[in-house]
Amino acid sequence: MPSIGVVVLLSSLITLVAVIYQNPGPYLTPILASLPFAIPQFFEQIYCYNAVKTNSESLPHAECFSVKNGHFKRVFSAESDIVREARTGHVIPGLWDGHGHLLQLGELKNSVDLFGASSMSEVHERLISYKSLHKTAGNSEEWLRGVGWDQAVFGQWPVASDLEFGSEFKDLYVMLDRIDVHCIWVSEKVLSLLPNPLPEIPGGEIPAKGVFCDNAMDIVLQHYPEPSSERKTKFIKDAMRELNKFGIVGMHDAGVTPKHLKLYGTLSQKEEWSVRVYAMLECEVRNTFCPEKAIEVASSNDKFYMRSVKLFADGALGSWGSAMIEPYSDKETSSGSLLVNATTLTRLAREWSGAGYQVNIHAIGDLANRLAVNAFEEALGNLCPDASLHECQSKHRFRIEHAQIIHPDDQHRISQIGIIPSIQPTHATSDMYYAESRLGKDRTLKEAYRMRSLLPLNPVFGSDFPVEPANVFEGIYAAVTRRSPKTGLDPAGGTDGWYASETVTVQEALKGFTLNPAFAAFLEDKAGKIEPGAYADWVVLDKPLEAFDMESLRKANVKETWVGGKRVYHRPGPEDLAT
Ligand SMILES: *[C@@H]1O[C@H](CO)[C@@H](O)[C@H](O)[C@H]1NC(C)=O
Ligand SMILES: [Zn+2]
Repeated sequence: MPSIGVVVLLSSLITLVAVIYQNPGPYLTPILASLPFAIPQFFEQIYCYNAVKTNSESLPHAECFSVKNGHFKRVFSAESDIVREARTGHVIPGLWDGHGHLLQLGELKNSVDLFGASSMSEVHERLISYKSLHKTAGNSEEWLRGVGWDQAVFGQWPVASDLEFGSEFKDLYVMLDRIDVHCIWVSEKVLSLLPNPLPEIPGGEIPAKGVFCDNAMDIVLQHYPEPSSERKTKFIKDAMRELNKFGIVGMHDAGVTPKHLKLYGTLSQKEEWSVRVYAMLECEVRNTFCPEKAIEVASSNDKFYMRSVKLFADGALGSWGSAMIEPYSDKETSSGSLLVNATTLTRLAREWSGAGYQVNIHAIGDLANRLAVNAFEEALGNLCPDASLHECQSKHRFRIEHAQIIHPDDQHRISQIGIIPSIQPTHATSDMYYAESRLGKDRTLKEAYRMRSLLPLNPVFGSDFPVEPANVFEGIYAAVTRRSPKTGLDPAGGTDGWYASETVTVQEALKGFTLNPAFAAFLEDKAGKIEPGAYADWVVLDKPLEAFDMESLRKANVKETWVGGKRVYHRPGPEDLAT
């Protein structure tokens, strides 16, 4: 039997340890946070910085917060001067990308980067240098993948035989996504797998031998050898590492098939899953009703949420695929194509929302946007026969993904109902070079790439990575300046900004990457802000966001990213380079 003295000694030791854990001060905090075991989780830990921007109405600015069990517990000002001296860094809430593609980003990190390639020979050079590092790529089991080409730089559509060059590039399986991932360009070897003649696919185009757009991509994708689960797990890990680097703590995955939902469900329970994912279900066959598939999927947890569905109304503007009310100005025989007719779109919106899902429709052209609003009106009327559309929408939170070109009448309807636009500011600055020639001056002025006009609807901002870089600071820059984050210029080569009346402020843009995506994912109590009870997700910057001048903002990088009270990224410093 232990003596009284030992018991007293032990219990005071335990108390002392507990006190230190609960209030470790600036020196012990980082040490405790880095402990390899879970003890810190059980105690309240305090973090202090030069300033904390909270996005919270009750306390917009603070200096310290405490974290317990992965959530913020208290938010407050520094209590002592010791603390005040020791802290560095300026905190903002963890960033969210409201529309991206997680697996595809990881796949891109593991494929040839063709973005910005300015000629066919540059494409060839990049393929050759990739192949020299990845010897096995291009066999029948593991096709050589790439993304980022644009026919505009070739002056014409590429063809399959363009991928037969030099000694290494004979008889390889090659599949390269267009910059907007709405077309693929494949090699002769891939073509040899396909039926001859090729089938006609509604909503699909084959503009050249070896190029397949929108629905026609399925002809090829049926033959694409699926990467193994191990490879997909690596894709996800690589993607999350990249996202954390940009201060991203959460993302909305705009199209996850049932099989991948299952993989997400499993992986999200592991420690390495460092980005919260709000998934939009995409049926194996696009634009169908497949709720039974979703039910099989592992249930949501704090890092993975499943309650929305993605439908597709049309294709993209770059390949004349977006569905327009009037023909294109630079292709008067075409007004794009719908991927689904109005009857089916409306039926799907009713069915999915009736089954309890948030309905998110991809719509780029003004016809597609009109049909999306029509479908939502029907579905809302069906869901809440006794409430106004606006009231009903505020519960169900339907979204239009991209919402790029919207007729003024439909902009008005969207505002009346309160439909959430999901906007990618860097799409505007990538498309601004050709948008006016596709649409003409009048349509561009009144309909295209609205931002400020849609602000009252609390638009979700995102990047659509990997179509655009996942860098949120480039997104903020594009929204605030309407200039290219790559060059700092507008299409005229100036700095006025492209249709500058649609710019937003830095604070509004930040909201688009924090509070608005939280609301659009039904996470307004948990994400996008630093408040007691919210997830302990935050980003440390070198200076306040407002203190960056615009030109340094587009190149800004974060110092640290924290998810659930755990540091998932820190910028390498001199001490890291030394080791
Ligand atoms: C719409 O599409 C569905 C499915 O492809 C088809 O069965 C239906 O006839 C079409 N409706 C109209 C009005 O074209
Ligand atoms: Zn997308």
